[in-house]
Amino acid sequence: MEVKKLLDESSLYIMNTYKRFPIVLRKGRGMKVWGADGKEYLDFVGGIAVNILGHCHPRVVVAIQKQAQRLLHVSNFYHIGPQIRLAKLFVQHTFADKVFFCNSGAEAVEAAIKLARKYAKANIGPECFEIITAENSFHGRTLAALTATGQKKFQKGFEPLVPGFKHVLFNDADALRRTITKETCAIMLEPIQAEGGVIVPHKHYLAEVRKICDEHNLLLILDEVQTGMGRTGKFFAHEHFGITPDIMTVAKGLGGGVPIGAMLATDKVASAFHPGDHASTFGGNPLVCAAAVATIETLLEDGFVLDQCNRMSEYFVEKLGNLREKFPPLIADIRGLGLLLGVELTRECAAIVKECLEMGMLINCTAEKVLRFIPPLIIQKKDIDQLMDVLDNVFGKLM
Ligand SMILES: Cc1ncc(COP(=O)(O)O)c(C=O)c1O
Repeated sequence: MEVKKLLDESSLYIMNTYKRFPIVLRKGRGMKVWGADGKEYLDFVGGIAVNILGHCHPRVVVAIQKQAQRLLHVSNFYHIGPQIRLAKLFVQHTFADKVFFCNSGAEAVEAAIKLARKYAKANIGPECFEIITAENSFHGRTLAALTATGQKKFQKGFEPLVPGFKHVLFNDADALRRTITKETCAIMLEPIQAEGGVIVPHKHYLAEVRKICDEHNLLLILDEVQTGMGRTGKFFAHEHFGITPDIMTVAKGLGGGVPIGAMLATDKVASAFHPGDHASTFGGNPLVCAAAVATIETLLEDGFVLDQCNRMSEYFVEKLGNLREKFPPLIADIRGLGLLLGVELTRECAAIVKECLEMGMLINCTAEKVLRFIPPLIIQKKDIDQLMDVLDNVFGKLM
């Protein structure tokens, strides 16, 4: 009864922007979440690649509790201790020299677009403002991020979009070369197209893109909102490809479950921003930064979580391979890196996701036919085994 009332009030009071499943989640620990009716679920969605350390990781919870007792929020008019600690961690462990903090992935993308334009006008040419992104990409829902997104279905109805974006085929360096004009200032890509169906480029693509950027004096922006924070088995996905960007966006896993985003850049590029050029009231506030410091420290400490991610990725792919053999026409492809895994089916997967939910498994479908698995990086073999039993059962019913 209580759940029914909540569902009724949800549709009564909340704007109708999400297609939601009819459950209310109330509690989470590690890989598990529990509904308001007490039903237990194993979570292979992880808040869409957010809960990298699982639900309510004790170190993150304690960091939030301690910070909440000390100081929740102050303005960026003043210096903020946890924000400085977090920026220093990024600078110590990535290509970046400077960090700007915001509250979400889309905001990080907006900040990246603004920094690229500002830098380009002063350093590449006053006419340079255009950014080339990829078809089938996803960069967020705010207007410039939506325009950067190379998928018409998200843009429909919101025209006119923001000027200055062009889209080219992903994984095709020649198409990029042909699209550059004297107005181009940057190329922005996801290292792996996650929302677009877990599309992994060939292993030389990003290095070719880096080379093109260097040859044409363009900035390379990598959107690591989904691929970052250990998701692919390295701190950031571009590390697999032996390159570094000029600007990078981060969010999702960064706060271990609290909303925070960041835009990172080299000193050379970051120096284009001056006081007043960009800002966010909540950006890098003490509470979320304390959570993010605890998250990054836990993620990178001893390499334990990244090792676990890589080991579990191997096991996961092996088990998916067994399913593919058992149900040959159903699984067209298995792909991904680390714990960003996609299983492309030969049919739409919505009914499978629904069936799995009923059997206690939260899984996700993207690009209509791709089951996307983005669980916490602390997942264990027994969790994967449980999922495989359920998928085996559900696929069996379909065949
Ligand atoms: C690559 C990428 N960029 C940006 C975003 C937008 O992030 P947010 O939903 O936090 O605004 C997403 C979200 O899925 C994403 O996957």
